[in-house]
Amino acid sequence: MKHPLVKEIIFSREQIQERTKVLAEEISQYYKEQKTESLLCIGLLKGCIPFYAEFIANYNGNCETDYMVVSSYRGGIKTSGEPKILLDVNTPLKDRDVLIIEDIIDSGFTLEYIKHYFINRGAKSVKIVTLLDKKVGRKADIKPDWYGFDVDDEFIIGYGLDYQEKLRNLPYIATCDTDKLKDWKW
Ligand code: IMP
Ligand code: MG
Repeated sequence: MKHPLVKEIIFSREQIQERTKVLAEEISQYYKEQKTESLLCIGLLKGCIPFYAEFIANYNGNCETDYMVVSSYRGGIKTSGEPKILLDVNTPLKDRDVLIIEDIIDSGFTLEYIKHYFINRGAKSVKIVTLLDKKVGRKADIKPDWYGFDVDDEFIIGYGLDYQEKLRNLPYIATCDTDKLKDWKW
């Protein structure tokens, strides 16, 4: 049931689904008001996957999907501060309304970098929705336009979020028992 690296389950799958539905409704309404003909949803892999799937299933309007892989964590639990594009978006961005879909914002370096990158590629607008907002970790001058839940300065796992590429499949969001990590064997 509960994975041994879990300290505490903070959001259940049902809570996440309910919150995502509300976010998707708000965001659909926003882009309807903007008269956006088709929203370009860009997910930051790999962490966005469960949230992304739930979000687009509840988005009520035309949208297209694309993805990017941007690395900043390199498998550890602290951000390195220099994002690197490992896989770029294929869809032309010129004059598009872009919504970046992310699992969590911590330092904000990743999103600050990507947002400017999209603007430089000619996007008409770039907005951000993240499932989790770790405000205390913020170092860059950036905030999400929409977010699901606030989290404290703790290492979070599950529902897309990993430790050493594992645990993304946990069907809930949890704090990690970091005391166990130093001699943890998979
Ligand atoms: P930032 O550039 O520091 O905002 O880092 C953003 C990326 O780091 C996120 O997309 C996550 O992939 C990863 N990350 C940040 N905090 C956590 C965490 O608590 N658990 C797992 N991954 C995290
Ligand atoms: Mg990520």
